[in-house]
Amino acid sequence: LLAIVRAMTSSPSTIWGGRFSASPSALLQQINASIGFDKRFAAQDIQGSQAHATMLAQQGIITAADNTAIQQGLSQIAQEIADGVFTFDESLEDIHMNVETRLFTLVGEPAKRLHTARSRNDQVATDFRLWVRTAIESVEEQLTRLQKALLAKAETYSETIMPGFTHLQPAQPITFGHHLLAYVEMFGRDKSRFQDCRKRLNECPLGAAALAGTPFPIDRNQTANALGFNNPCRNSLDAVSARDFAAEFLSCASITMVHLSRFAEEIVLWCTPQFNFISLSDAYTTGSSIMPQKRNPDAAELIRGKTGRVFGDLTALLTLMKGLPLAYSKDLQEDKEPVFDGYDSLSVCLAVMTGMVDDMTANSEAMLAAAQKGYLTATDLADWLVRTLNMPFRDAHHITGTLVKMAETQGVQLHELSLEQMQGVEPRITAEVLSVLTLEASVNSRQSLGGTAPTRVKQAITAALATLGS
Ligand code: ARG
Repeated sequence: LLAIVRAMTSSPSTIWGGRFSASPSALLQQINASIGFDKRFAAQDIQGSQAHATMLAQQGIITAADNTAIQQGLSQIAQEIADGVFTFDESLEDIHMNVETRLFTLVGEPAKRLHTARSRNDQVATDFRLWVRTAIESVEEQLTRLQKALLAKAETYSETIMPGFTHLQPAQPITFGHHLLAYVEMFGRDKSRFQDCRKRLNECPLGAAALAGTPFPIDRNQTANALGFNNPCRNSLDAVSARDFAAEFLSCASITMVHLSRFAEEIVLWCTPQFNFISLSDAYTTGSSIMPQKRNPDAAELIRGKTGRVFGDLTALLTLMKGLPLAYSKDLQEDKEPVFDGYDSLSVCLAVMTGMVDDMTANSEAMLAAAQKGYLTATDLADWLVRTLNMPFRDAHHITGTLVKMAETQGVQLHELSLEQMQGVEPRITAEVLSVLTLEASVNSRQSLGGTAPTRVKQAITAALATLGS
C-alpha cells in the first residue's frame, strides 16, 4: 500500500500541477477528493462539457475538428459510466478531472482545449444546478403519485365516518376521505414550492469561469439555452458562489418531510390496537424478534425518523454557507452530500408512503365505534338550538354542555337522553333534535366549502383529479 501511495504521489498531478514540484500528501488527497460523491454529477458534467465545446467551436475558439473529437470522446465516457465500466480515480480529485483525464486518454490533444474559457467553479455550479433540476422533476412526479394514491383511498372512504380530532381529543365526526384529502392539499403545496424553486434555480452559471468572466468571445446564451436554462446568471461572482438554490431545495424537502412525518405519525397511531383505525398488510409491517404478537409500522416510523435527518441536511448546508466570502471557496465542495442525502431520503419516503397508502385498509367499524364515543355531535346540538330556537350561540353552548354532562353521568350517548330529560334543561327542545344527533346527519350537514360532507368530498376528489391529469 505504501508503495502505491508513493507511486501516486511521486509526480505532481497532471491537471493543475504546473507550478508544483511535489504532489499533495495522501491526507490532503483524502480530504480534497470529492469523486466518491460527485460522481453522481457524471451525466450533468458531460452534458455541460458537450454544450461548452459546441459553443467554443461555434465561436471559433476551438476548431470544428477538435469539437468533433471532444463530442465523440464525451459520448463514449457517458456510455462507459452508464455501463458501469468507468474507473473513478480518487487521485484525480473530482468528477470534472476524472472526465477530462479520460477524455485525454481517448481523444488526445483536443481534450486539452475543452477547459478553455471555463473553470471548475462555473462547471461544478452548472452541474449542481442541472442535477437539482432533475431531482426536482423526479420529486414532483413522486408527489403526484402520492396524491393519486391518496385520492383513490379518499374515493373508497368518502363516506366512512371517523372521529375528527383537536388536541388529539375526539372533536367532531368527519369522513376518512376528507382526512386523506387534507394531505392531498399539503403535498400539492409542496409540489408548487419545488416548482417555484426550479424557476429560480434555472439560470446558467457556465461562462462565469473562475469568478470574473473570460476574455474569450463566448456565447453564454447559447450554452444556457442548450442546457435548458432560462438565461445565463447575470453576475459571474454570484454564478460561482450561489448555493441558495440547493438550500431552497432542501427547505422544500424539509417542509415536505414535515407533512410526511405528520401523516406517518397518524399511521403509527391508527395502527395501534387502541385506535385500530387502519390495517397494513404484511407487506408494510414487521414483526418483533421477541414478542410474537407484534405488528410494527416500521415504515411509518422510519419516515418520521428520516424527517430529522433531512432537517439536518438543510442545517448542514445553511451552516456551510453562513459567512462564506465571495467567490468560490473549497468549503463549497461540502455542499453536495447534504443535497444527495436529502434527496435520497425524501425520495424513498415518498415512495414508501405511496406504497403504504395503496396498502392500507380502513377498519370502518372501529372508526365508527370511536366516533360514537366522546359526544362528537355536541356542536350539532348547539347549532340546532341556534337555528331552531334562535338562541345566541354562547347560550346554546352552555345548555349543550349541561346535556353532555347529564349524558356522561348516566353513561349514555346524547341521542339516548329522553326528550323529557332534555326539556328539563331547555323546555323548547322538540323530538326534531334527534335528527341532528346522528353521526351521518352531522357529516352530511357540513356542506360548507371545504367541509367534510361526503358530497363535498366527492366534488373535491373530482376537482383534484382534474388538476392532476390522468
Ligand atoms: N470538486 C470541486 C467542488 O466540488 C470542484 C470545484 C473546484 N474548484 C476549485 N477552485 N478548486 O467544489
